[in-house]
Amino acid sequence: MQIGIIGSGNIGGALAHGLTRAGHDVVLSNSRGPDTLRDQVAALGDHARAGTAADAAQADVVMVAVPLRAVGDLPDPALFDGRVVVDANNYYPGRDGQIAALDDDSTTSSELLAARLPGARVVKAFNTIPAGRLRDDGHPELAPDDRPAIPIAGDDEAAKATVAGLVDDLGFTAVDHGALADGRAQQPGAEVYGAELTARDARAVLA
Ligand SMILES: NC(=O)c1ccc[n+]([C@@H]2O[C@H](COP(=O)([O-])OP(=O)(O)OC[C@H]3O[C@@H](n4cnc5c(N)ncnc54)[C@H](OP(=O)(O)O)[C@@H]3O)[C@@H](O)[C@H]2O)c1
Repeated sequence: MQIGIIGSGNIGGALAHGLTRAGHDVVLSNSRGPDTLRDQVAALGDHARAGTAADAAQADVVMVAVPLRAVGDLPDPALFDGRVVVDANNYYPGRDGQIAALDDDSTTSSELLAARLPGARVVKAFNTIPAGRLRDDGHPELAPDDRPAIPIAGDDEAAKATVAGLVDDLGFTAVDHGALADGRAQQPGAEVYGAELTARDARAVLA
């Protein structure tokens, strides 16, 4: 499966590392352009290449791992129509600026991304786990319930199944706890955010 990554820093880099090791072809992108990703791509091997964010948006699955304030700078929303878009972003006002609709909890950061990309099939995932653990803590040898959890939320069941498959490839287990709006239960400050939970335990917390 071809996977595009928009934002190739801590979390995008960890995703690229694990997904290429699992045999997926990955297109990495950032804000400064493909030339600046040459070393990172070389270190990842033959399954990785650098592109523009618009190139990455053409993949089967597109990971968005940018500071939330940069969501407005994503390429033409039409490029994302029909694609599975994984939202790994979090809202940190100190970094992103105050966003009133998030401050008063009338919406969620993933719903803001979905509003920006109305044709995309947005799934919230990978936002709760620190990048270092995403890179190093996958355990494919463990039974699914005993692996570290990756909470996911979204409105499109087929898209969530696709993302759950990628989570599995990385040695984690996806814990689907509902619609995109339910993703507020995995935002910063929520019980599962940053917690080291097995899938079994995360399912109990999110029930
Ligand atoms: N760090 C973690 O452990 C972690 C864990 C879970 C979730 N998250 C969330 O994931 C997101 C990214 O965090 P991070 O720590 O990975 O950030 P980071 O290391 O600062 O990397 C951000 C990446 O986004 C790129 N970027 C910024 N604006 C862009 C744009 N308009 N178009 C394309 N790419 C753009 C940057 O490219 P340039 O360098 O070229 O500007 C960089 O590659 C945040 O929302 C964060 O809250 C982080």
